[in-house]
Amino acid sequence: MTKTGFGIDVGGSSVKGGTVDLTTGALIGDRIKIATPQPSTPEAVAETVAEIVDRAGWQGDVGITLPSVVRAGVAFSAANVDKAWIGTDAKALFTERLGSRGVVVLNDADAAGIAEDALGAGRDVDGVVVLLTFGTGIGSAVLHNGELLPNTEFGHLEVDGKEAEHRAASSVKTAKNLSYKAWSKEVTRILERIEALLWPDLFIAGGGISRKHEKWIPHLKNRTEVVPAALLNAAGIVGAAMAADKGIAP
Ligand code: BGC
Repeated sequence: MTKTGFGIDVGGSSVKGGTVDLTTGALIGDRIKIATPQPSTPEAVAETVAEIVDRAGWQGDVGITLPSVVRAGVAFSAANVDKAWIGTDAKALFTERLGSRGVVVLNDADAAGIAEDALGAGRDVDGVVVLLTFGTGIGSAVLHNGELLPNTEFGHLEVDGKEAEHRAASSVKTAKNLSYKAWSKEVTRILERIEALLWPDLFIAGGGISRKHEKWIPHLKNRTEVVPAALLNAAGIVGAAMAADKGIAP
């Protein structure tokens, strides 16, 4: 029998959820996507999360990502979501809203990293794997032999006087109308800084722009191999479901 779980990925523009085949990382049935309520306060987002779980008819435990540093279920930052999240006990809030289900809350990039490392682009790689998600900001996940080091925030690493995500998020490429080649120079700078500090064995590039990887990954000049994420947009949902299944939260 297929072992299944349920994950929800909360982002600044949409909240997405679905049932996950925990053995393969494939989504079972439709991904449910609802626009993030504006303002994206904790209460409003909890309502959307509950709607997704209801629509799916899911009865078991639920994993939920936030674009936030999350320690023991509490959000400590809020990127592209309402600042009211800061200091919110997200686990308590979602647990109350979702009834008797077990709830695990974790950072969005950490969830994507768990999924990619186990079932996606990192599945045959030992050692240190660093996943970066390029989107509105830059999210990061660090895994060592499958074990997550939670809440790394490399998007905020200062590189030559500027935060990494202000140089090389994919939103910067759009805002400045940069070519893939010009943008890849900024990405190279970020990767070189991370590899000087961490010496990873592999980088996995995630976020929507990883779908166009052939346009920019070949331009990167850093030392460590960079591969595109394999689970693409579903990685956050899959990793959240995996974390809920294991009952582990950072
Ligand atoms: C936040 C991270 C988040 C990333 C992607 C960054 O700005 O600080 O916590 O993982 O954006 O959403």
